[in-house]
Amino acid sequence: MTNIKISREKAKETAGFIREHIKKLPLIGILSGTGLGNSLQSINIDSSFDYRNIPNFPVSTVESHMGKLLFGNFENQEIMAMQGRFHLYEGYSPSEVTFPIRIMQELGVKILILSNAAGGLNPLFSPGDIMLITDQINLTGHNPLTGPNEDAWGVRFPDMAAAYDKKLIKSADNAGKEESIILQKGVYAGLMGPSLETPAEIRFLKTIGADAVGFSTVQETIAGIHAGMKILGLSTITNIHNPLNPSPSNIDQIIAVANNAAPKIEAIMRKVIRNIHECDCR
Ligand code: HPA
Repeated sequence: MTNIKISREKAKETAGFIREHIKKLPLIGILSGTGLGNSLQSINIDSSFDYRNIPNFPVSTVESHMGKLLFGNFENQEIMAMQGRFHLYEGYSPSEVTFPIRIMQELGVKILILSNAAGGLNPLFSPGDIMLITDQINLTGHNPLTGPNEDAWGVRFPDMAAAYDKKLIKSADNAGKEESIILQKGVYAGLMGPSLETPAEIRFLKTIGADAVGFSTVQETIAGIHAGMKILGLSTITNIHNPLNPSPSNIDQIIAVANNAAPKIEAIMRKVIRNIHECDCR
């Protein structure tokens, strides 16, 4: 990986371009992962940009990601939604992976909703379950904040004691109850990928307290915390790892399970966004 750093000037330039083309500034940023782009279908879209048409924007290379940035209204809130994210395993640097978070920051986003597909480690989980991320373990060996600190963006040593906002978790929990969607809670371990986990790695991840594993989210959460955002993380558990009975993971099946779970993610996001004022999450 080339450790490309994208400067604040570039982020401001990109945010400036976007500002000229949108009607209202967003309060909420949504970043959706594998198979979950369709969880954004009921947004009333005001403006839509292909990543390739946005200055300085990296271009997503993974087929199951859509590569569109949407602005519009969802449940009476102005939102900015990214269909498809950038991953370290694609060769992007931590700074590129978190560039969209900086654009969100420059546009005034205060609440960040991250969704992903993840492998389940907790034996109580089943494929198709949604897990509210309560905490994370960054095992990528990378951090988007290395190098000189950009003081205008945040502090040198951001606190990570409550990276995933407790009020947003509670609000999502209530949404699950109202919608009769079973929600799990747990710790997300972020690896670099793209090779899937060995049985020994699965045993290690379970031992260190991870409930789910994936190749995204942890960099974005670090940048989001640095940016002062409140973060909600939603994982779709697409496959279960049992180190006692290792079985190959099937990427088509992973995408299919994530696609099928997209309506559940959408229902949770919808209720959380609808109640964003009541939950005092802003
Ligand atoms: N490992 C890593 N990422 C994933 C998995 C997995 O098992 N399932 C879905 N995303």
